[in-house]
Amino acid sequence: MFIFISKSCLAKFMTGKIIRNYLPELYALVISRKKPAMVTVNLTNRCNQRCIYCELSVNKSDLGDKALSLADLKWIIDEMAVNKIRRISLCGGEPFLFEGIIEVIAYAGSKGIRCSVTTNGMTAHKLSDNALNVLVRYKTQVNISIDSLDETIQSFTRGTSSALKNALLAIELLGNKSIPVTVLTAISRYNYHSLSGFLYQAYEKGIMNILFQPIIYYSNYPDLPVIERKSELNVPVDKLDILMRELKQIHLFERTHQISTNVYRILPWLEFYLKRAAQTEEGWFFTKVVNKFFCREIYAIIDIAYDGGIQPCGLALATVDIHANRSEGLISLWSKATEELKRDMLLGRYHDFCNGCCHHFSRNMLASVIKYPLQNRNAAIQLGALLAMRFLSVIYKRFLKKHSKPVRGK
Ligand SMILES: C[S@@+](CC[C@H](N)C(=O)[O-])C[C@H]1O[C@@H](n2cnc3c(N)ncnc32)[C@H](O)[C@@H]1O
Ligand code: SF4
Ligand code: SF4
Repeated sequence: MFIFISKSCLAKFMTGKIIRNYLPELYALVISRKKPAMVTVNLTNRCNQRCIYCELSVNKSDLGDKALSLADLKWIIDEMAVNKIRRISLCGGEPFLFEGIIEVIAYAGSKGIRCSVTTNGMTAHKLSDNALNVLVRYKTQVNISIDSLDETIQSFTRGTSSALKNALLAIELLGNKSIPVTVLTAISRYNYHSLSGFLYQAYEKGIMNILFQPIIYYSNYPDLPVIERKSELNVPVDKLDILMRELKQIHLFERTHQISTNVYRILPWLEFYLKRAAQTEEGWFFTKVVNKFFCREIYAIIDIAYDGGIQPCGLALATVDIHANRSEGLISLWSKATEELKRDMLLGRYHDFCNGCCHHFSRNMLASVIKYPLQNRNAAIQLGALLAMRFLSVIYKRFLKKHSKPVRGK
């Protein structure tokens, strides 16, 4: 079947993501990384949902003059432009509650920096035409968090009764403008049994990308105390067989349908993570997946908290403030902020919170395999097979898209 794929289709695929993302990443891992790949900023700690797994739903304090301002964001973007860092992720809290967000996106875009926004979708359906035009002009990627298309489950996990309705309105509005939307889904004890049904419904609604992740059971915001008994929000160990069955169904479905997920990337490690979360296994969950671990994220991402602190990584407390010593420049401040954690990780002195690090683990797993292929040869074989299958399925789906009539209303 693959011999019929047109050269231009294949070439487009090869030249797109591969040249933009994969080759530079490979170079960074094998040869050297000259600069971080992206910046992620929590624009605000304010939020209009009360998710059961998020510290911001219970612990919001007024940041006063420590809160990030538009001027801070412009400084960050200027620094990124000088250092040729071309991607910024705008997160929160709820990023659309940051008043200048559209100005931030336009300012970044004018400097050749592309934004992604991760939102709960509560207010995005009210974006003005001007705002939408900015998102379109600067090729903004929007991630919308939906845990379930069952309103009862979604309202419960997101702590807000209008969560699903608003998120779907936002997806429709953005879809009408051809703004790419990815759905982010937290896998918890409340939705694990219906994930494949969720995928089929999402497909029917024209959603094309879903990223799943289990519950991070350390504090998402290390300046805030972790939610009590948070790890119990994860899928119980005696229900893992049901979860795995659901994920395998998703994996099969997406091979031949125009919807993509990250299931192929989380399958190799999810069980180990969840068993560790439930404390039925000891040690570092990631050492069960790779023999020699390498944390890519502390080299590739600059994490900036809502109070301007530079965090050594998303789960570590900020050690350096962008409001102080600004003249040193972002890269120098970030190097200081990450120095100790980088040293610890290289020496194998992992931190407690590393056991809760699932949001970055797929990338860290791949990086570990590329960096230490001999020590991690078993993982390399498993990953190689998964990646090859994925590659073939992407090519096949592109072929189908080009040569078949649409099967859905949307
Ligand atoms: C922290 S939120 C911030 C952006 C926005 N407020 C939202 O909810 O999309 C970013 C993403 O993290 C997810 N998230 C929050 N707490 C989590 C946890 N403990 N475990 C897994 N995912 C979590 C949210 O569902 C969302 O997809
Ligand atoms: S996950 Fe997002 S929407 Fe939910 S409480 Fe946290 S910041 Fe708000
Ligand atoms: S929690 Fe640990 S493994 Fe995860 S990004 Fe931070 S240092 Fe790396």
